[in-house]
Amino acid sequence: MIIAIDGPAGSGKSTTSRAVAGRLGYVYLDTGAMYRAIALAFIRRGEDALPGAADSVLPTIRLDLESGPEGVRVWLGEEDVTGLLRTAEVTRMSSRVSAIPSVRRFLVAEQRRIVDRQAARGRGVVVEGRDIGTVVFPDAGLKIFLTAAPEVRAGRRAAEMRLGGQQADDAAVQEDLKKRDRDDSSRAVSPLIPAGDAVTLDTSGLSFEEQVELIVGLARERGI
Ligand code: DC
Repeated sequence: MIIAIDGPAGSGKSTTSRAVAGRLGYVYLDTGAMYRAIALAFIRRGEDALPGAADSVLPTIRLDLESGPEGVRVWLGEEDVTGLLRTAEVTRMSSRVSAIPSVRRFLVAEQRRIVDRQAARGRGVVVEGRDIGTVVFPDAGLKIFLTAAPEVRAGRRAAEMRLGGQQADDAAVQEDLKKRDRDDSSRAVSPLIPAGDAVTLDTSGLSFEEQVELIVGLARERGI
């Protein structure tokens, strides 16, 4: 069984998806981390986010993910790059590489392989991203589209950055989120839009526990 959780940055997707997976005994797959790892590879190779560069970078990439209790660890080849994926530079680049069609094809195939492997072991997966319910797993058993007001999302993201030891100005973070929203929603391939059969949850007025409870409740209703 697959639960797809899509939505914009700062909607609470990651923490919520991880908690829902924990509650249901599912594996958690963070597809944003995969785009971030590709972005890191581009940056290290000194490549700009262009389709031609993807042709040379992608064949050299071996990406591995491991889902654990404290989140997902990501390897590029032999190197654990988990701690390098949340910088402002990688964040900006991930939004840009995610608009390249061959990068999306590469990662969608990888995401389907990972989920198939878990399904073969009888395990369900909570998959978090932007295009999971629309493109990657259109037959997912439950699709959630999480949203929240821009100022709420910016506030959450800024607090998260401060917790991680980075400086954050709420207004600047909100501007950055707006730009990413615009780019993610308007790109030609797999734009960020809710699937027709997704349940949209506005989390602006919800606590974290309430969000998790609501989604677990919806999953139970569907026999998950
Ligand atoms: O969720 P995140 O902030 O870690 O995602 C990083 C970038 O990757 C973001 O700009 C959108 C993009 N992304 C995407 O296009 N499709 C996905 N399934 C997941 C992330």
